[in-house]
Amino acid sequence: MAREFSTVGVVGLGTMGAGIVEVFARNGIDVVAVEISAPALERGRATLKGSTDRAVAKGKLAEADRDALHERVHFAVGLDALHSVDLVIEAVPEHLDLKQRIFAELDRVCRPETILATNTSSLSVTEISVATSRPNQVIGIHFFNPAPVMKLVEVVRTVVTAPEVVADVEALCARLGKVDVTINDRAGFIANALLFGYLNHAVGMFESHYATREDIDAAMKLGCGLPMGPLALMDLIGLDTAYEILDTMYRRGGRDRRHAPVPLLKQMVTAGLLGRKSGRGFYTYERPGSPVVVPDEATPLATDGALADGARAIAKVGVVGSGTMATGIIEVFAKAGYEVVSVTRGMEKSAKVCEAVKTSLNKGVVRGKLAEADRDAALGRISWSATLDHLADVDLVVEAVVEELSVKKALFASLDEICKPGVVLATTTSSLPVIDVAMATHRPADVVGLHFFNPAPVMPLVEVVRTIRTSPEATATARAVCAALGKTGVVCGDRSGFIVNALLFPYLNDAVKMLEASYSTADDIDHAMKLGCGYPMGPFELLDVVGLDVSLAIQRELYLELREPGFAPAPLLEHLVTAGYLGRKTRRGFRDHSHR
Ligand SMILES: NC(=O)c1ccc[n+]([C@@H]2O[C@H](COP(=O)([O-])OP(=O)(O)OC[C@H]3O[C@@H](n4cnc5c(N)ncnc54)[C@H](O)[C@@H]3O)[C@@H](O)[C@H]2O)c1
Repeated sequence: MAREFSTVGVVGLGTMGAGIVEVFARNGIDVVAVEISAPALERGRATLKGSTDRAVAKGKLAEADRDALHERVHFAVGLDALHSVDLVIEAVPEHLDLKQRIFAELDRVCRPETILATNTSSLSVTEISVATSRPNQVIGIHFFNPAPVMKLVEVVRTVVTAPEVVADVEALCARLGKVDVTINDRAGFIANALLFGYLNHAVGMFESHYATREDIDAAMKLGCGLPMGPLALMDLIGLDTAYEILDTMYRRGGRDRRHAPVPLLKQMVTAGLLGRKSGRGFYTYERPGSPVVVPDEATPLATDGALADGARAIAKVGVVGSGTMATGIIEVFAKAGYEVVSVTRGMEKSAKVCEAVKTSLNKGVVRGKLAEADRDAALGRISWSATLDHLADVDLVVEAVVEELSVKKALFASLDEICKPGVVLATTTSSLPVIDVAMATHRPADVVGLHFFNPAPVMPLVEVVRTIRTSPEATATARAVCAALGKTGVVCGDRSGFIVNALLFPYLNDAVKMLEASYSTADDIDHAMKLGCGYPMGPFELLDVVGLDVSLAIQRELYLELREPGFAPAPLLEHLVTAGYLGRKTRRGFRDHSHR
């Protein structure tokens, strides 16, 4: 029979501890909440009160239940108050020596049968456990931030944790309404091992002015459907905590350079910019602890799509190509009121693209999203051509032909001869350097990347890629066009993968490596990212949708450009592609889709 936990202790009432107290008290368990000093205790009490008051205001918690919840929590300074609890969860800052000291003290204070748990994100639970005389009763219970909301708990067993302790803690997680994944003691466990390389990479992009904080965050939210962008998430985690986690993962996890904290992080921590908890991190908050972002000196001025920064007026747009992307892009421009000239390699292809655009617009009509008159007007704005000469008077050209550099270069050389001066020439390439395409013309200042996402009519994001030769006016024009299309244009440098793919695919590749190392299962890894980090799909679900061949090609490009050893494609990914298991499109990838 599972052990009864009627009273638990929580040590440290910071970002995580206060939330963990709430989780237990909400589920009818008495809590002894401990801090190091009276002011820290008051802060913890205020955090708990703020969180439960917000839950009441949102109608998620009845007032009476909130009051009962608070009655279950006993606050105290010092570990002595934990003498008779059944379980302790430690959530003090991420320092091994501090945690070891606390565990040694807990070992003395607590009853012999008490289970001692750490909420560490990256430190070795084993090393913490050996500071006690009962390492078999020490376990990791890793909650996610914010603890009352996130469903996942990683239960970390060491080589000496007793199986019944693991079983008791698993049963407790179920009682708390959490989903647990039980794993061995490895730096970063599942979720953080996959998350922190990505977060650190995003900080590096920001530090090197590759893109603004707003654009990096918007790219990941809108391009991948994540609940928050990486920099906003760093602020939520706390930059001091994030720094310590990265530092530990770097040292414990094989000195992967991707985990070496970006220098800016250390500077921000030293300067007291710790994120939400201090009121300022990558963003500025209304006050310490508040989730409300307020404008600061780095906040971009709202232009509302108006012509700012020398953006040029665009009325007529040429779209070159006849594939999925070109078809979607034609529709997007025509629907937004632009006159569109579609150029394909023959009238037969034009007829096909025209059919596809009609079908897609008709779907909008059937679904009640588009009026018939608007559909007809959109179609009326498109002219169909098989010769580039018809692009002589357009204001913008969007190229979406096959992803081959020689083909794109030849096309841009022709556009250079045909198009009038001042035209913005855009490529939708997702993997080729935009500068290579730009230098095929005599007007590289007018060349940008406009990386639409598939399906273009649906996806709200466009990456605007500026090369080292792109003029500010061309960039501003591209951005204004995105706004006029109802999309968010994020501006970034001309590097492999731009923002989204550069941040997304190494994470997917890392998940494959984790599976390959038999650390966990595809199901548990998918669960961990969905329930611990709020991702809309787990990495293996996403890989099967994107296609393993496509993913491998992108990962190879990233590796080739940056020569970052951690970006080397996972051998398992290569083998699956060689075996023809490409994902949903071949009915088998990481999972078997043949029965669906
Ligand atoms: N922040 C996150 O998103 C997150 C998520 C999961 C796990 N964790 C882990 O949770 C732990 C706590 O992180 P955090 O972000 O909540 O840190 P935090 O800095 O927000 O809070 C730590 C708290 O511990 C208190 N404390 C310090 N020394 C103490 C002592 N001797 N006795 C009692 N209390 C003491 C501090 O006063 C502070 O309130 C870390 O191990 C971290 O890795 C953090």
